[in-house]
Amino acid sequence: MPTIEFQPSGARIDVAPGTELVDAARAAGVAIDIPCGGNGTCGKCLVRIVSGDLNQKKRAEGDDPRLALACQCAIGNDDVVVETFEHHLPAGDRDEDIAEYASAIATVLRSGRHAPIVQRTALTVPPPRPDDGHSDFDRLKAEIIKQTGKKSVIVPLAVIRALPELLRADDGMVIITWHDIETRAIVIRVEPAAFAAGSYGIAVDVGTTTVAVALVDLATNAIVAVRSGYNDQIPCGLDVISRINYARRPVRLEDLRGRVVGTINRLLEEIRSKRRVDADAIVAGSLAGNTVMTHLLLGIVPEHLRLEPYTPALLAAPNLSARDAGIAINPDARLFLSPAVGSYVGGDITAGVLMTPLTGDAEGVSLFLDVGTNGELVIGGRDFLIACACSAGPAFEGGGIDCGMRAADGAIDRVRIADDDLPEFTTIGGASPRGICGSGIIDLIAGLFSKGIIDSSGKFDRSGTNPRIRIDGRRAEYVIESASSSATGADIAISELDIDNVMRAKAAIYSACALMLKQVGMSFTDLERFYIAGGFGRYLNIENAITIGLLPDLPVDRFAYLGNASLIGSTLALVSKDERERISRSARRMTYVNLSTELDYMDQYTAALFLPHTDRERFPNVYARLNAKKR
Ligand code: FES
Repeated sequence: MPTIEFQPSGARIDVAPGTELVDAARAAGVAIDIPCGGNGTCGKCLVRIVSGDLNQKKRAEGDDPRLALACQCAIGNDDVVVETFEHHLPAGDRDEDIAEYASAIATVLRSGRHAPIVQRTALTVPPPRPDDGHSDFDRLKAEIIKQTGKKSVIVPLAVIRALPELLRADDGMVIITWHDIETRAIVIRVEPAAFAAGSYGIAVDVGTTTVAVALVDLATNAIVAVRSGYNDQIPCGLDVISRINYARRPVRLEDLRGRVVGTINRLLEEIRSKRRVDADAIVAGSLAGNTVMTHLLLGIVPEHLRLEPYTPALLAAPNLSARDAGIAINPDARLFLSPAVGSYVGGDITAGVLMTPLTGDAEGVSLFLDVGTNGELVIGGRDFLIACACSAGPAFEGGGIDCGMRAADGAIDRVRIADDDLPEFTTIGGASPRGICGSGIIDLIAGLFSKGIIDSSGKFDRSGTNPRIRIDGRRAEYVIESASSSATGADIAISELDIDNVMRAKAAIYSACALMLKQVGMSFTDLERFYIAGGFGRYLNIENAITIGLLPDLPVDRFAYLGNASLIGSTLALVSKDERERISRSARRMTYVNLSTELDYMDQYTAALFLPHTDRERFPNVYARLNAKKR
């Protein structure tokens, strides 16, 4: 078998001829980022062949014959030495401000049945008798049936193993944690009453780019901690389509499943070790994610989500345990998965809209927009709900932007272009800048456009008068912070290519909103409220988002920022039966519109590929502001 050596790590592996280079690299523990999922279209998985030869389906562009696209190479019969280049997003695990989540949850949580997914009940199991032949297991089951009124009881083997000690530790007084499912009680945990610990649940937002985990005290509904970080699937594709491409082979599907489960477990472990919470005490989970993410999380082939007639393998999850999903909490903990509506409108949206009047009885029509790697939106109110998704790409989460990063410490979050055309900025946490996050990117592009430093097509002024503009052949960029002052030791800059990515993302979102409103015979001015969800919105300057044409030209007070609505909705579902039912009801009420089959969408999108839009009449206030500045 040929031997493949990867430089600079020196990792070596013997593989069968025909093995794809990307799979050989993964098996050798070498990371090669493949942003388009191995489709051969992004050109970003370059490696250099140092010696030997590879079978290449498609050659890399450029003059250097030793450069190759890793995703297009298979191993032949030669031993090969390959040099890899690393392009990783800066690490970004962070603790979130729990006050923001706690107040949102308190605001939404209705009075009524706040029953969490699991229940706790105190029992006294009678002591064993010599004459009735009832085992520990029999006596526990009988007592559970008596107390809960259920017809049958399921007790996991792990609990049965511990029963002899548990039932004798405190005179048979125990607290059981159980899941109520139709006529059955499924036992998750049994503790001696005298030594019973707290019981916890987790809520998870499984995003394409970012994953967030909240630990919740089920006795009080209080959020103990929230931690978020990049989804470890990112090296296998930046967006959901790339991940679907990557997942075509079973070994890669399993790789993606392991990566997202690993991300959740890593964040959870970081919280648990800080808060000293035993994994066994976490007895319930609530997960919300887009449809592709939930398929990958459960190890289900996602291929059919992107093929006509775009049918998911499942919309609502069956009765899942943490063991089934590989989540590192009590293995018998029950999981609630927010139901999806279609291939690209998932449980993150049905959970997210819980925070808005769209799911209630209020009159008036509002729009809910969740900006993540996909842009998903719901329009409606009491009488109707329609939902769609557009492929925005990860630009607003820092992906696909050379110096982009998520909203973590050191991210440039606010930018202003001063009168001397130089940038003034702040960073999250006040740290030296490491990169720029979504809100900073929007501010920067709005500022550059307002000052005439870029034109409406996002191209730089090439007159040579601005010292921050650097032109190198066809590449042009604006330097925000020089290498000597940045935390990375490299310049922090935005290039025309980056701006182009942002313009595509904002055009996808704006045109999806405009088209959906048109379908129901409305326009932006008919909207009561415009709700914005997603991590990047926390620092978002609404006026600047309007200036670049991401948001419509409405009064600023018409917009409301919701935070990570998916995580908040998922938390509500964890602690409240009413909210779980409300999510399921909303999912059933939503009509899913597939934009890829809407002929008008491409025209709307193309028209929006400028700053702010080709149709100036849609943005009268933006032009009024620009003209006022010129006077
Ligand atoms: Fe190889 Fe995109 S071209 S991953």
